[in-house]
Amino acid sequence: MDRRGEGIGDRYHQETKYRREAMPRGGLDWAHQPPPYKEFPFALKHFSIRPAEQKGGQSLWETIAQRRSIREFSNQSITYSELSQLIWATQGITLRAWGYEFRASPSAGALYPIETYLVVNRVDEIPPGLYHYSVKEAQLILLKEGRLGSEICQAGLGQEMLEEASCVFVWTAIVERSKWKYRERAYRYIYMDVGHIGQTLYLAATALNLGCCTVGAFFDGEVDRAIGVDGKNEISVYLGAVGRPR
Ligand SMILES: Cc1cc2nc3c(=O)[nH]c(=O)nc-3n(C[C@H](O)[C@H](O)[C@H](O)COP(=O)(O)O)c2cc1C
Repeated sequence: MDRRGEGIGDRYHQETKYRREAMPRGGLDWAHQPPPYKEFPFALKHFSIRPAEQKGGQSLWETIAQRRSIREFSNQSITYSELSQLIWATQGITLRAWGYEFRASPSAGALYPIETYLVVNRVDEIPPGLYHYSVKEAQLILLKEGRLGSEICQAGLGQEMLEEASCVFVWTAIVERSKWKYRERAYRYIYMDVGHIGQTLYLAATALNLGCCTVGAFFDGEVDRAIGVDGKNEISVYLGAVGRPR
């Protein structure tokens, strides 16, 4: 931070403004567009998510009116169908058209830099562990079996809800997917994208009578390590705890 109180965040915002006289030039390098889906060469097990309910349910207006951050959870599991519904609502593919696979949550340029990992503490039918959600296959990929609740709680500044939750969504961004088009401005869009996903998780959880709280306060490096990303090319950006309200 300099003497005027201007720090890296201030400079980032100023230097990534679009200005009429200095718009980025040049077309997109289609030959080098990063792949839109992350794939794992190994999987201990995989679980297809259940088909999502797309009709009926609680009204949107009631859901918006009821939504609150809930930080206290009972030790009752959520069901696999409920988890499937939350995953679909946040990241499911809802339209295939014009060579794109559009998802339930919007994304700048339809580039979808956000990846979803899940720390499962207590969900019926699937073992506790670390999962990655394969959007393309609509499957949860078990990466590591075991209880990671305490590790993610410590990484999340000791916020106990992260250990008490039935599961914790951990959203990362593969920065190059967005940088390929937006260069340094990409970070703005990454945070906007994940904000949309977070709100969708809140609303979907509320409509299912589940509790949810998103979390931006965490030791980045510790969350990166817990889920196995390098913190540079793929960065942890946001968490969302879900469970049955106490
Ligand atoms: C970007 C962001 C980060 C947040 N991080 C945390 C957090 O680390 N811990 C927490 O308890 N709540 C966190 N929250 C939840 C806010 O505290 C909560 O949304 C706010 O108090 C308003 O309450 P409401 O969500 O019930 O309307 C976060 C919310 C947002 C949008």
